[in-house]
Amino acid sequence: MKPRKDLLTIESLSDEEIHTILDSAVAMKEIFTKSVKKVPTLRGKSVLTLFYEPSTRTRSSFEVAAHRLSADVTTFTLSTSSVVKGESVHDTIDTLMSMKMDYIIVRHKNSGIPAVIARHCHASVINAGDGAHAHPSQAFLDAFTIREKYGEVVNKRVVVIGDILHSRVARSTSVILRRLGAQVAYMGPGSLVPPSSHTGIPRLRDWDEIFAWKPDVIYLLRVQNERIESPFFPVADYHHAYGVTEERLRRIDAQDISIMHPGPVNRGVELCDAAMDYRNCLVCNQVENGIAARMSILYHLTPATLS
Ligand code: CP
Repeated sequence: MKPRKDLLTIESLSDEEIHTILDSAVAMKEIFTKSVKKVPTLRGKSVLTLFYEPSTRTRSSFEVAAHRLSADVTTFTLSTSSVVKGESVHDTIDTLMSMKMDYIIVRHKNSGIPAVIARHCHASVINAGDGAHAHPSQAFLDAFTIREKYGEVVNKRVVVIGDILHSRVARSTSVILRRLGAQVAYMGPGSLVPPSSHTGIPRLRDWDEIFAWKPDVIYLLRVQNERIESPFFPVADYHHAYGVTEERLRRIDAQDISIMHPGPVNRGVELCDAAMDYRNCLVCNQVENGIAARMSILYHLTPATLS
């Protein structure tokens, strides 16, 4: 397999690379069961987390992953950086590259910024979410979680529910699941679900159609009010139309369906409180698996050599 410098999208990866990263995530997760949860794989390497947008789990997950591989981790904090004084992304990168980083993990509100950074530096760049474009490490942890739960992804039926249009998670996770042989369907507000003629992914109209489709997994997307200029739905109406209510949770339980969500969960919007305690709620598994998947991603990438 050719060495890969950057992880920017799932689409850019070969099938072999997707399977290799998922397989080595299994070995990475075994490290969590040891009393010393650390291996020397990236000793002497430096990792920078460069987040221009808020993050709870992705940033901390990458930082834990890098620590467990023995890398040195630097956190770039926007509020205390020169970006607030007007420094451009390019100038910030030039400054940071003078520090000879090996890996840069980038989140930005604009699509394409991680690709720009990747073109301008020797470090391996990992896209930790760019606008509504891509979130490939989320896709890996989601695929890993489904594979762990069911033994395989092929032929599993997954409904992604919510604002598909603005969601980088929906895009990247749908791509990886379909590449692995899953069947994916969408359900959500009409104007926020692209037509199946564009995506090749069937649109289900409502929860009755979801239950009739007999999914193995329902994947609730976070309502991203920060990406929407004016709220498209009162919260109570959204929950009633698209969320997991207590009544729907009983049907989900009866059909033995798993629940996933990328986090952070808006309780009472996408999921009722009881859904978080449901026996097949995989949200905490996703968080734990995020560390293993990100360790595997870091291990898989090869920074360019500095001349
Ligand atoms: N799933 C996800 O990207 O969460 P954060 O925004 O907390 O990183």
